[in-house]
Amino acid sequence: SVPSQASSDGFLQCLSAAIPNELLYTQSSPLFTPVLVSSVRNPRLFTNTTVKPLVIVTPTNASHVQSAVVCGRRHDVRIRVRSGGHDYEGLSYRSERPEVFAVVDLNKMRSVRVNPSAGTASIDSGATLGEVYYAVSKASTQLAFAAGLCPTIGVGGFLSGGGFGMLLRKYGAAIDSVLDATLVDAEGRLLDKKAMGRDVFWAIRGGGGESFGIVLSWKVKLVPVPPTVTMFKVAKTVAEGAVDILTKWQVVAPALPEDLFIRVVVQSSAAEFQSMYLGTCDALLPLMGSRFPELGLNRTHCNEMTWIQSVPYIYLGSTATVEDILNRTTSDGLRKATSDYVRQPIPKDGWLKIFDFLAQPTAGIMIVDPYGGKISAFPESATPFPHRAGVLFNIQYMNFWSAATDGSAQIKWLKDFYTFMTPYVSSNPRQAYVNYRDLDLGQNVVVGNITTYESAKVWGEKYYKDNFKRLAFAKGKVDPNNYFRNEQSIPPLVARK
Ligand code: FDA
Repeated sequence: SVPSQASSDGFLQCLSAAIPNELLYTQSSPLFTPVLVSSVRNPRLFTNTTVKPLVIVTPTNASHVQSAVVCGRRHDVRIRVRSGGHDYEGLSYRSERPEVFAVVDLNKMRSVRVNPSAGTASIDSGATLGEVYYAVSKASTQLAFAAGLCPTIGVGGFLSGGGFGMLLRKYGAAIDSVLDATLVDAEGRLLDKKAMGRDVFWAIRGGGGESFGIVLSWKVKLVPVPPTVTMFKVAKTVAEGAVDILTKWQVVAPALPEDLFIRVVVQSSAAEFQSMYLGTCDALLPLMGSRFPELGLNRTHCNEMTWIQSVPYIYLGSTATVEDILNRTTSDGLRKATSDYVRQPIPKDGWLKIFDFLAQPTAGIMIVDPYGGKISAFPESATPFPHRAGVLFNIQYMNFWSAATDGSAQIKWLKDFYTFMTPYVSSNPRQAYVNYRDLDLGQNVVVGNITTYESAKVWGEKYYKDNFKRLAFAKGKVDPNNYFRNEQSIPPLVARK
């Protein structure tokens, strides 16, 4: 139900009574738009017609978040929560359909407390990955956080969806390291792991943002890294044998020793192999020589550095400094993405056709991350993130356009490419990664003020496979009235007694 003006006014009064006014930005505030756009990365998701929040709440402590939820429940105004704002469909700050809602933006709750002797860190959801990496490296040069490549991603959304990066083969997805968390539920209660119970603690570790409440902080296990890691980027064109090398890569990369991770960015007529090895160039060269000689790696390709130096190197370029990973203000251009998982090697002929697609004038790119190793060692039911044993690699398809066009040709290319890939990728269900959210995979239908299970199953089984139903029961336990919801939130199922 869309709340009336009266309930919106009541909501704002309720907020004002509980939260300092300088932490509230209503639509009439001159800072409303600057605060709202501060972490919008993709201009496609913020236009004149975007359905914007009634108010942005920027809490500085848990009680503010609890009050926002209590006020929202009382006055029937929904809340969307934002950490880093990187959601691929902008669901943390906009609604696809008309809706009166508030945004709780956690950008002022971003402390990172590292305990090097215990090898753990307590991290607020509003911190960026870059801030976490930086704090960990200052506390210990032997520890790392196994998370994503882009340093401006928010911890809140990242961990809500699983989260993976260069250390995934050695240490698994980021949620595999979560030890505890604090959650504000739909009743406004502040719950830790014990208080939220087994099912909800399971659900928040990968079951998608927004569905179960607002996660304020996470306790994670840090992972050991050696003093030297070796990075390389090697590009091969089709003329230089990219097709054969990729055909080999897809079976070799998921089976290599866990210390070696080689992803590929495939674009136009070239494949760039980007790698991190947890060790020295001296140790890497014989390994590559025996397992993957086709890439022709030699000493000139090796860049030895510390783990923390590898973070700006891989994402921001070789001239970026470690301090650059603290910069929260970068933004991307217009884009749209979707994802797949591959379980059977793609035949050489398939790779040839992929390059034909990538050669089209409106083509985008394909980023492939190998699995295997630790990420594949957990059972599919260990966490909601189900992409485990049997997955060879994840594909992210992405296309970009300039403001001079409406992007329809680029989006059509993306859809055509996704259709073309059908025979080569996972099926029944066709798997997808929730953190590369795509609303074209399906959107919720709300009937009687509750999201229907059937509508959500369409996209839900792609992101979660058989874990989807268990997530719906966890939702039924913690939020049976479906207060926390968006276009792809988990619907509540309530167990019959
Ligand atoms: P944002 O704040 O937009 O939230 C995302 C979703 O989670 C929303 O539905 C939101 O409501 C919800 N949410 C946010 N905070 C919450 C909280 N505290 N409690 C409950 N729900 C919450 N992924 C990856 O695994 N590896 C990678 O290397 C990359 N790289 C990458 C690069 C770039 C440039 C982008 C834009 C994205 C990625 N991603 C990625 C995907 C990324 O992991 C994904 O978009 C995350 O959801 C982003 O989290 P944010 O907190 O930034 O998003």
